[in-house]
Amino acid sequence: MQTVSRLDPLRTAVEGLRAGGKTVALVPTMGALHEGHLTLVREAAAQADHVVVSIFVNPRQFGANEDLDAYPRQLARDTELLEREGVALLWAPDPEAMYPAGYATNISVAGVSEGLCGADRPGHFDGVATVVCKLFNQVRPDMAFFGEKDWQQLAVIRRMARDLDLSFPQADAIHGVGIVRESDGLAMSSRNAYLSAEQRQAAAALPRAMRDAIAVIGSGPGEERALGNLRETLAVAGFSSVDYTELRDADTLVPLANGANTENARLFVAARIGGTRLIDNMSVAEE
Ligand code: PAJ
Repeated sequence: MQTVSRLDPLRTAVEGLRAGGKTVALVPTMGALHEGHLTLVREAAAQADHVVVSIFVNPRQFGANEDLDAYPRQLARDTELLEREGVALLWAPDPEAMYPAGYATNISVAGVSEGLCGADRPGHFDGVATVVCKLFNQVRPDMAFFGEKDWQQLAVIRRMARDLDLSFPQADAIHGVGIVRESDGLAMSSRNAYLSAEQRQAAAALPRAMRDAIAVIGSGPGEERALGNLRETLAVAGFSSVDYTELRDADTLVPLANGANTENARLFVAARIGGTRLIDNMSVAEE
């Protein structure tokens, strides 16, 4: 695996991978890789000739009081993991390569970025859309892979790609990959590393309580009660606060009115345990 940190060598390396008409898949990450990330890499490898992974802790998507400095950075370990997966190229740009002096452009996607994490983290999805647009332009992949763990992020990226006519050879080039979970159901996340042993145990209440709520919601009216119970269960389990518990249309992300048809609904939750913010989402129909 080749690792590059500047744009010119990246372009040369990607050109090399493309020789002979080979296809290239991009998997954007912020590093501190876990099985969730590696599942995206495997999915990408199954569908393209070569996989390019990017690792960049993107300052523009972190709020002023968020964990930019504390965010885990472990490039040596990540490099080893990606070598083992047979990844062709690691794009680990220096911050100055991504945002050189004088950088001034922002991409803001309305609609799908509003509410949920967009409400709790102002500017977050602008930062995500901006960096992902740059990554697409830098690597020019045939396809890209994102996790459904960050469902709203995936919706923002798809909207941006459509709105800005970002060109991919196929219409469905932006792939969503199902959430990879620990054995107790907790969605894998680089931020789980912040949890103490006790908090980690308590965190498993999140997916459990979501499944319980969905069982009620799926069986008829009573959403408000189910979401109320969900918040209460999280408080009892040791969560310090709940940012949101919301049912939204899975595709448009439009909030569902109480009593609306939940056939295409998804339950979205963000909650904090100590200083750590955890998010999860589940389909109402499929659980
Ligand atoms: P990061 O949190 O490192 O995640 C990189 C990719 O891995 C995202 O597409 C995310 O949805 C996916 N992922 C993380 N945990 C997962 C899990 N448990 N199951 C399935 N997929 C999972 O998301 C970002 O980085 C950044 O916002 C980025 C898109 C790289 C832009 O900076």
